[in-house]
Formats: sequence, structure tokens, C-alpha cells
Amino acid sequence: MALLPILCFPDPKLHTVAKPVQQVDARIKALIADMLETMYEAKGIGLAATQVDVHERLIVIDVSEERDEALVLINPQTVWTSPEMHINEEGCLSVPGVYDGVQRHDAITVSALDGQGKPHTVQADGLLAVCIQHEMDHLMGKVFVEYLSPLKRNRIKTKMIKAQREDQR
Ligand code: NI
Repeated sequence: MALLPILCFPDPKLHTVAKPVQQVDARIKALIADMLETMYEAKGIGLAATQVDVHERLIVIDVSEERDEALVLINPQTVWTSPEMHINEEGCLSVPGVYDGVQRHDAITVSALDGQGKPHTVQADGLLAVCIQHEMDHLMGKVFVEYLSPLKRNRIKTKMIKAQREDQR
């Protein structure tokens, strides 16, 4: 297993639209293990393959307190979303230190393959529902700050570029 570098906003590679995973083979299983390790190390609750510069439809999530309920979604498809929506505070490992409100469906049902390549259906609400929607956006090349006003987004962009420049010193 290995820790993977996480792309940071405004890296244009974060806007790549991911392609479906063709086969859940040894390469994908190794990628899942590395993404889980990277997510836990970074204390995140979700990570999309897009964020580690792999542009295939794969997400890992763990919203549990104990950090022992890993959820793997390969080629996720939205089956149903609740008409009710609410604004929740979100953050992202690709936009460190930034938290802001995004409107999401309260509940969502998705079908996907699990880490073994078996089909499963996940019915989610609460934090898990928010996290799934956030991560599925990544696979479409969308970062949560794109829901914010252009003014806020530009402020975040400037802050990120400055922080990344300081990191390189
Ligand atoms: Ni994110």
C-alpha cells in the first residue's frame, strides 16, 4: 500500500471527467487499498479517484466515527434522489482549510459495484448522502467550490495558489 498525492484546487486535472472502470482487477483493488490509506491518513471522509489523478469512476468513503466502515463505489449511478434539499457545510481534501455551504439532496440511492466487483445498492441519508453526492461530482470533474459565488470562488483560488506557493518554498 502507498499514500497517493492528492491534487489541489485549482489544478485543472480536477476537472477531468472520469471514465467507467472496465474491470475490477488487481490494479483496481490495489488502487482502492491505496485510496483508503490516503483518505484515512488525510482524515477525510471520502476520496474520488479523480483527486489522486486517476480518471476512472471509483470512490472510497468512510463516514463512521470508528473509521472502520469503508464503502467502495465503482461506476456509481444515481437511482433516486429525494426532492428535499438542504444546505450543508462541506470541505474537501483537494481544497484544504476551506468549508462552505452547498445545497444537496437529503437522501440518495445509488447502484454501483463494490470493491470485489459485485453489484450493490446503497440508500443513504445524512452525512453519507452528502458525501456520496460530493464524491460523484468529483468524477464529473466538479469541485464543491464551483457551487459558490464567483467572488467566493476566486477568493479561494487566490488563497490556494498562495498556500501552494508557500509550500514549495
Ligand atoms: Ni472533495
